[in-house]
Amino acid sequence: MKERRLKRLLVCGAAGFIGSHFVKLLRRTRPEIEITVLDKLTYAGNPANLAELEKTAGYRFVRGDIADGEMVDHLAGQVDAIVNFAAETHVDRSLLDPFAFVVTDVLGTGVLAEAARKHGHEVFLLVSTDEVYGDVAEGRSQETDAFRPRSPYSASKAGGELLAWSYQVSHGLPLIVTRGSNNYGPNQFPEKIVPLFITNALDGMELPIYGDGSAVRDYIYVEDHCRGIDAALHRGAPGEAYNLGTGTETSGNEVAAAVVELTGLDGAKVGRVMDRAGHDYRYALDVRKAAEELGWSAEVGFREGMERTVRWYRENESWWRPLRNGEYWDFYKLNYRPAEVQ
Ligand SMILES: NC(=O)c1ccc[n+]([C@@H]2O[C@H](COP(=O)([O-])OP(=O)(O)OC[C@H]3O[C@@H](n4cnc5c(N)ncnc54)[C@H](O)[C@@H]3O)[C@@H](O)[C@H]2O)c1
Repeated sequence: MKERRLKRLLVCGAAGFIGSHFVKLLRRTRPEIEITVLDKLTYAGNPANLAELEKTAGYRFVRGDIADGEMVDHLAGQVDAIVNFAAETHVDRSLLDPFAFVVTDVLGTGVLAEAARKHGHEVFLLVSTDEVYGDVAEGRSQETDAFRPRSPYSASKAGGELLAWSYQVSHGLPLIVTRGSNNYGPNQFPEKIVPLFITNALDGMELPIYGDGSAVRDYIYVEDHCRGIDAALHRGAPGEAYNLGTGTETSGNEVAAAVVELTGLDGAKVGRVMDRAGHDYRYALDVRKAAEELGWSAEVGFREGMERTVRWYRENESWWRPLRNGEYWDFYKLNYRPAEVQ
């Protein structure tokens, strides 16, 4: 497969979970590419995730907002492509504060698309999510399926995507979209299910499971997802979207059981909490297109990925403990309420 050769990249939102793994992967595998990271450093952005790259040649970090048109225009003028990870990403927070999601995930994405158009970029890669398809009762979502987002998070991601697609149609923006499934792995903010369960287990707390715990997701190890994004960036066709998942289904109960077993903490117990409002029961991706057209597929199975992840959180307490601070517990108390008060 022929690869495009990119020289200078603007990677937005790379101080977060997936973006930081992506930038580190690029540094290892394509050291010739100059990288500028633009990140607002919200509660989810953590400079420690990129500390090993500081002061290395061909890398720089700029603190700023993707919705800031002037700053984005300035930086976009210095690169040949943008990869956007920047977003508000937590579904539960979107139920409490939806408009922060609209500003970053819709407006911010539009600002990036406009800058990519103006500067004639070679590609604009937008990192989207399987959640834009909404709840999937049967079968698997294909890239051509309609969007049926059901949370303010997924609606904002879908809105940002649609705005970017409108630039592709109206202005010929060379847009490539990836729709990834649920990521897990090192450096994930401990509000998301896998690190939440692991850190709670290590702290001797209950693992809060929504409803009966039977809702299923396709869990992908973060490094697999990043290799898929890299494949789409270098080998994807402009105007195309690619589902990036494993094609497997794992319930919340199974995630909890894996955490209890792998932490080996007998005290770790499941605590049922009131279900998430509008909780999507099932996401399932058809991942054949990425395999056939990008030559990519996920390699790390759930068991192996969970072993690596649990080990990382055990060994990196100094990374996650400061994140479980006052604001974190305020959100936690607002979000998780015992099931019996339903
Ligand atoms: N986590 C998942 O399971 C998953 C799955 C599929 C797709 N995605 C998508 O992948 C991307 C990254 O997800 P993540 O889990 O790494 O997120 P994250 O919450 O860990 O990180 C988001 C990053 O974006 C930055 N950011 C937020 N608003 C910004 C703004 N206005 N301007 C600049 N930077 C801003 C934050 O500071 C942070 O560094 C998101 O677009 C998300 O929708 C995530």
